[in-house]
Amino acid sequence: MMNRRHFLGSAVAAALLGRNKSAAAPTPASPFGGSLPPAVFQDDESYWRALRREFLMPSDEAFFNTGTLGSSPRVVLDAVVNHMTQVDATIAHWDYKPDHPDYFTGYRPELELREKLARLINATAAEIALTQNATVGMNYVANGIRLQPGDEVILTNQEHPGGRHGWDLKAKRYGVFVKNVTVPVPPESPQQLIDLYVNATTPQTRVWGIPHLTSQLAILFPVKELCRLARERGIFTVIDGAQVCGHLALDLREIGCDAYYSSPHKWLLAPKGCGWLYIRAERLPEIWATIVSSNWDNYHDGAFRLMQIGSGNLSLLKGYEAAIDFHQRIGSARVEQRIVGLANRLREGLRQIPQARIWSPQHAELVSATTVWSLGGWSATELMDQLWERSKVRCRAMGDPYGVRQCCHIYNAPEEVERTLQTIRRMAWERRER
Ligand SMILES: Cc1ncc(COP(=O)(O)O)c(C=O)c1O
Repeated sequence: MMNRRHFLGSAVAAALLGRNKSAAAPTPASPFGGSLPPAVFQDDESYWRALRREFLMPSDEAFFNTGTLGSSPRVVLDAVVNHMTQVDATIAHWDYKPDHPDYFTGYRPELELREKLARLINATAAEIALTQNATVGMNYVANGIRLQPGDEVILTNQEHPGGRHGWDLKAKRYGVFVKNVTVPVPPESPQQLIDLYVNATTPQTRVWGIPHLTSQLAILFPVKELCRLARERGIFTVIDGAQVCGHLALDLREIGCDAYYSSPHKWLLAPKGCGWLYIRAERLPEIWATIVSSNWDNYHDGAFRLMQIGSGNLSLLKGYEAAIDFHQRIGSARVEQRIVGLANRLREGLRQIPQARIWSPQHAELVSATTVWSLGGWSATELMDQLWERSKVRCRAMGDPYGVRQCCHIYNAPEEVERTLQTIRRMAWERRER
């Protein structure tokens, strides 16, 4: 069905735009789209250098702010733009019969895409709702779950607003109690983080909201063990994985959570405005929909009930699929190994600079590809601006005293990490007396 829809759209668009067959040929296949044999990339560094050419960012710009938004590769952008062009060129051909190509989304289950996502995170398509971002996922869970006045929800003091405020609204409106546990900065061990939840739990506790990887300080939570402990206690677990999908390999069956949501427009490099929400099959019937349309009460197709948002942009979903394909072509484990490896180099270099301080965890089980660090004598904003002005290194200021957040991703190179360190060494020397 998907192929037929795609084919019809392309053929009609090409004809309408006056292109002959060769002019309408697709843009050259990406080296990661299936055209080159893997042997070309036997040497690891040349593999990553070739990959970097798939991104539109100028080669001298080192982008380290994927934690806010990723840069999508060419195949993703092409998928979006080509489809959008087709839609607008051929829309009069759309007769709205069921077997005719679709021009928008919002009313179909989008099973093909949900199945791709399911393979990526080890879930089933029926357990996944397509959303716009993590914030929407958080709101669906907080708003949709049945809680009584006096029931408790445990969160941390490190939640992003997009992981928190649905629960605050629930508390204000329905008399639920939100308890915020204070995370040590940085935590010394996974056990410290586990103890926070266990010690705060009372007989009234119904939900643990767990940030898989926190936004501000990049603290990686031991989600699998936390979910196991919650299950023993009959507590619902919902994980904020906005920073994880496309960053660390994800296996939701293994984690064993009840709900999980993410923003693949960050690390998965999907088009901006793409998200997903997972709810374990057994828990799905407990969650009411928040925004509703024709399938609001359809209990036959799992989480489809939770994606009734009205007309949306099908072209974005074409890019979303292309982003999953691109990522899967490389492989989650390979991505994780590469980018955490780059971040380890950065952390190693920072440890050699006396004025530098790493605020994100350094315990082997709590690290990721994101590092938050500061430099004595320089404010967070000065650091961010100077890194850019001096070396075209783009990090994000996280406020004082935490300095900047530096996210290593597949478009970053060891040379860029070294360039960052050289700039820091120079800046440290310039303000060595402060
Ligand atoms: C941990 C965490 N949760 C939630 C969000 C919200 O993401 P979005 O704005 O894509 O909904 C972010 C964004 O940075 C985040 O880092």
